[in-house]
Amino acid sequence: MLLVKLGGSVISNKRRYRRFRADVVKKIAYVLPKENLIIIHGGGSFGHILAHNYKITEGFEEWKKIGFSKIGLDMMDLNMKILKILIKENIPAVSLSPHSYLVLGKKVNFEIFKNLLDYGFVPLSYGDVAFDKNKGINICSGDYLMYELSREFKPEKVIFLTDVDGIYDRDPEEEGAKLIKKLSKNYEPKTKIKVKDVTGGMDYKIEIVKKIAKYSKVYIINGFYPERLKNVMEEKDFVGTVVG
Ligand code: IPE
Repeated sequence: MLLVKLGGSVISNKRRYRRFRADVVKKIAYVLPKENLIIIHGGGSFGHILAHNYKITEGFEEWKKIGFSKIGLDMMDLNMKILKILIKENIPAVSLSPHSYLVLGKKVNFEIFKNLLDYGFVPLSYGDVAFDKNKGINICSGDYLMYELSREFKPEKVIFLTDVDGIYDRDPEEEGAKLIKKLSKNYEPKTKIKVKDVTGGMDYKIEIVKKIAKYSKVYIINGFYPERLKNVMEEKDFVGTVVG
C-alpha cells in the first residue's frame, strides 16, 4: 500500500489566502494509482492563515469558535476541490474529515479507513481543525495523520510531496544548502529552520519522518514534478530524500 501526502504548499499558494493550484493537483492525480492508496493533504493557505489568526493551537476560547468553523469550512472546500479532481481521474476516493472522526490525545479509530480499503476505495483525509482531549480545540496536522496511518497500516511506501526537492541540511533558501539524499533515522538537524507554520514546519516533519521510517520506506520529494513520484513508485532513480 501507498500513503501519500499532498503538502499544503504544493496544492495552494501558501502566501495567498485560499489560492488553489488545480493544475498541480491534476498532474499529481494523473500519476497516482487507483487503489491500495491513502491520500492526505495539508492546509496551506486554506488552513494556516486563519489558524494563526485565531490562535487555534493554543486551545479553546469563546471568541475562537467562529474561526474554528471558518477553517473547518475552508478545509472542506479545499478537500472537495481535490476530491473532484481525483474522481475525474477515476480514483474512487472517499473523504473523511478529522474533526468528525478523531479527538487529539486519544487513540484514533481507523475502522472506516479499513472498510474503505477492503472494498478498494481510496480514503482521503487532511489536516484540519479538531477536538483535543486537553486543549479543547487544536489543529490536527496532516503529518500527524501520516504518522498514525503508517503505524496502523504499515504501507510499503510513504511519500510526502513538498514544494522543495526533499530535506536539506539547512533552510533550503540559504546559500549552499544541500539536499540530503539519504537521511538516517538518527539524523539531527544542525540548524533550526524558522517557519511561521502553526503545525511546526520542517523540524516537526523531520521528527515525524524518522518515526514513520520504523514502519515504512519514507520519501520526501518535490510535488511540482509528478514524474519523480512516478519514479519512486516504479523503483526508478529519483530526485529527493529517502529515509531509512
Ligand atoms: C494544517 O495541516 C491544517 C490546518 C492548518 C487547518 P498541515 O500542517 O498538514 O498542512 P501543510 O501541509 O503544512 O500546509
